[in-house]
Amino acid sequence: MSDTSKRIAVFGAGYVGLVTAACFAELGHRVAVRDVLVDRIAALRRGEVPIYEPGLDDLLERNRERLSFTTEVGEAMDGAEFVYVAVGTPPTYSGDADLSAVWTVIDELPRVDHRVVVAMKSTVPVGTGEKVRLRLDARGLEHVGYASNPEFTAEGTAVADFLEPDRIVIGSFDETDGEAVAALHDGIDAPIVRADVASAEMIKLAANAALMTRISFINEIANVCEATGADVVKVAEGIGHDRRIGKSFLRAGVGFGGSCFPKDSLALKQLAANSGYHFQVLNAVIEVNELQKRRVIGKLVELLGSLRGKRIALLGLAFKPNTDDTREAPAFVLAGRLLAEGADVVAWDPVAGADGLYGVEQVATVEEAARGADAAVLVTEWPQLNDVDWAVVAQGMRTPVLVDGRNMLDPQAMRAAGFTYDAIGRAAATGSA
Ligand SMILES: NC(=O)c1ccc[n+]([C@@H]2O[C@H](COP(=O)([O-])OP(=O)(O)OC[C@H]3O[C@@H](n4cnc5c(N)ncnc54)[C@H](O)[C@@H]3O)[C@@H](O)[C@H]2O)c1
Repeated sequence: MSDTSKRIAVFGAGYVGLVTAACFAELGHRVAVRDVLVDRIAALRRGEVPIYEPGLDDLLERNRERLSFTTEVGEAMDGAEFVYVAVGTPPTYSGDADLSAVWTVIDELPRVDHRVVVAMKSTVPVGTGEKVRLRLDARGLEHVGYASNPEFTAEGTAVADFLEPDRIVIGSFDETDGEAVAALHDGIDAPIVRADVASAEMIKLAANAALMTRISFINEIANVCEATGADVVKVAEGIGHDRRIGKSFLRAGVGFGGSCFPKDSLALKQLAANSGYHFQVLNAVIEVNELQKRRVIGKLVELLGSLRGKRIALLGLAFKPNTDDTREAPAFVLAGRLLAEGADVVAWDPVAGADGLYGVEQVATVEEAARGADAAVLVTEWPQLNDVDWAVVAQGMRTPVLVDGRNMLDPQAMRAAGFTYDAIGRAAATGSA
């Protein structure tokens, strides 16, 4: 083991914790992963990966000898020089981030004699680091360092995002702790942004808010395109070439979901409100997104009339492709609205399950989902949908209506396949204005 190899304890074996652990092991560190979920740890010990994240299973397998999994805090902390906190921070009823899992980790940290640096990967409100510092000090753990090292990986591409990031952000109270956390990333070629702890925390929240703003912006442009006869796909292409604007996150659709954007936007909105500031742009971004998820219902009513007793196929359940994560997925909102309208809902997804979606039938193929349906809605742009024989799908439907909620398919090809095809903001391409 080289002397740059460190011992790291990662708390939380979820999407972020497992990717962090596997990638640090890949960089040569020894990593102990601790979770409270007994079954999850048992599965990991057997070599099973409890989440779907491309490339993660290979990485865990390749670095098996440097990784261990446990439910015991003491075992994880044995010899640890760094503690990565990667537990969930879901919203509370008030919209604030629920930090109870974070506090449990901090309060359970055993007394250590040597210097250990706690690094926060969980997304937390600005000011959390300051509070953790006070809590550690109150326990006589002044010699335990603290750094904010927020995570910017996206599910579906998390392994590559971690190992080839746009930047690494590290905020610390103590210069040497920040340097130590930076050194853990040796081998990764990326700019390192060193900051104070509060700014590092805000960088994460602001980055997410900026991305969400672009999504709601292009969705509003799409809605105006629909009203005026333009095509948002062309518009996005045209503005994306502008270097001041850029191409990314300009894809109109049925709105954003996932485990991060919705909760982080609420948390930032609430953080601002708690500080006496009304964050107007963010409020609009959230509202636009909520309305966007429901717009498809209006389209279906326009195309089919009353939805009572209609059979609607949802193509895709995951909040985006290449993940099994359905947290805050637009498909779930759509399903809920459709069921409330009295429709029968059948769903297909190659990876994600319909757990928690009561009354929704899940089937194994797109053809099966569409069979006998009055309309199909493409909700998640799974690459598998490129290989579907859409003419066969159209033939199997009661009425061949397809609403492409991600503007994934070619309008002309879909019409040629026999569909009445509608999309998001594509009036010029679909003739739907
Ligand atoms: N999912 C993402 O792509 C992503 C990206 C960037 C940031 N984040 C942030 O990272 C954090 C983790 O997100 P996630 O998606 O990995 O969550 P997750 O729900 O997938 O995983 C969290 C894990 O923490 C475990 N846990 C809870 N209490 C624990 C404790 N006391 N000790 C050890 N483990 C404990 C849970 O059992 C769970 O397995 C969140 O704050 C999230 O906002 C997530």
